[in-house]
Amino acid sequence: MQTESELRGYALTVLDSVGDGVVVINRQGRITLMNPSAEELTGRSRRQVIGSRFSEVFCTEPLLVEMIERTSASGVSLSDQDNVVLNSFGKTIPVNATTCPLMRHDGESIGVILTLRDLTSIRELEAAVRQADRLSTLGTLAAGLAHEVKNPLGGIKGAAQLLERELDADSDLQEYPRVMIRETERIDRIIRQLLELASPRGPRYAAVNLHLVLGDIILLQRESADSREVTVLTSFDPSIPSIMADESQLIQVFLNLIRNALEAMPDGGRLTVSSRVLSEYQLARNEKRSRMVCVDVSDTGKGIPSENLPKVGTPFFSTKDTGNGLGLAICHKIIADHRGIMKVESKPGKGTRVSVLLPLLQSTVKG
Ligand SMILES: Nc1ncnc2c1ncn2[C@@H]1O[C@H](COP(=O)(O)OP(=O)(O)OP(=O)(O)O)[C@@H](O)[C@H]1O
Ligand SMILES: [Mg+2]
Repeated sequence: MQTESELRGYALTVLDSVGDGVVVINRQGRITLMNPSAEELTGRSRRQVIGSRFSEVFCTEPLLVEMIERTSASGVSLSDQDNVVLNSFGKTIPVNATTCPLMRHDGESIGVILTLRDLTSIRELEAAVRQADRLSTLGTLAAGLAHEVKNPLGGIKGAAQLLERELDADSDLQEYPRVMIRETERIDRIIRQLLELASPRGPRYAAVNLHLVLGDIILLQRESADSREVTVLTSFDPSIPSIMADESQLIQVFLNLIRNALEAMPDGGRLTVSSRVLSEYQLARNEKRSRMVCVDVSDTGKGIPSENLPKVGTPFFSTKDTGNGLGLAICHKIIADHRGIMKVESKPGKGTRVSVLLPLLQSTVKG
């Protein structure tokens, strides 16, 4: 038999352990209870807010204030999963907010319970699915187009090569077939990239030492960095083991990201490539928490205007004169094929950070 105070302590422990944020507001609109998850989500400490008016503490969240007022007045539960975004520590967190009336045994309403569920990982997953959809539509189209264009292109290139051979070595006209050959090769490159994007081939897994791969790419890009006066910094977590991945595909990913970073800093800056392990990353709410490796490629370049942020990674979206706009689309596809996630964060004028999260699947083969 438990005493009243034991039961109360037990109930509070349960509330403190719930993964969702819980806030209780009394009839006077004052906060009477807040669990640690709610503190974390809202960025407010319970010691500071208990006893204060919800509408004052959360004046930056008018949607929540309105939901609580409506539930308090009508006794009706409300749920909103599309609109609520919390702003804590300058970070925005999408949440599912639910308000329901707090009832006494006799049915009298004595306040409102607000629950907040963090939707960040769900939103990220949704974005990844949307991207995959876009790519698969494009993939079918691209494969058809590439097939149709490849043969005539080969014909043009062959004819240009013949012409080049027919002309005298010192002829003024030599330049023309050379331009034709160079440009057909450029189209060929775009087609190959498109086919890569459309290819259903998944990764060919083998043990990959990420740090060796990153080190090699940085070495390859050194000249390009030096010519732009870009300082390259690396910060690798030495405890990261080899992961199961497709090495040649990962090379493409990081080459594209590092190139983009360098291209964003024509007047110099700093490129940082770092790696770390995220121990408890949850891809989907019901999925087991799994260990992920995160590689960040950050630059201090021009950044991406917020109106462009949703478009980057869409095939052919490019703001560069010589860009095809396929680099990030290919990265997205490869990372999704590896069951990973790519995130792009940017502050215009300050820089960009692209994070690649890959599952830490370790090789069972030693060495
Ligand atoms: N690190 C970055 N800093 C600023 N803008 C970036 C960065 N990375 C990508 N972008 C923006 O996203 C666009 C798309 O990038 P993406 O790599 O897909 O294509 P691209 O670099 O333009 O061409 P490609 O990679 O095919 O040569 C770029 O044109 C640029 O506007
Ligand atoms: Mg690029």
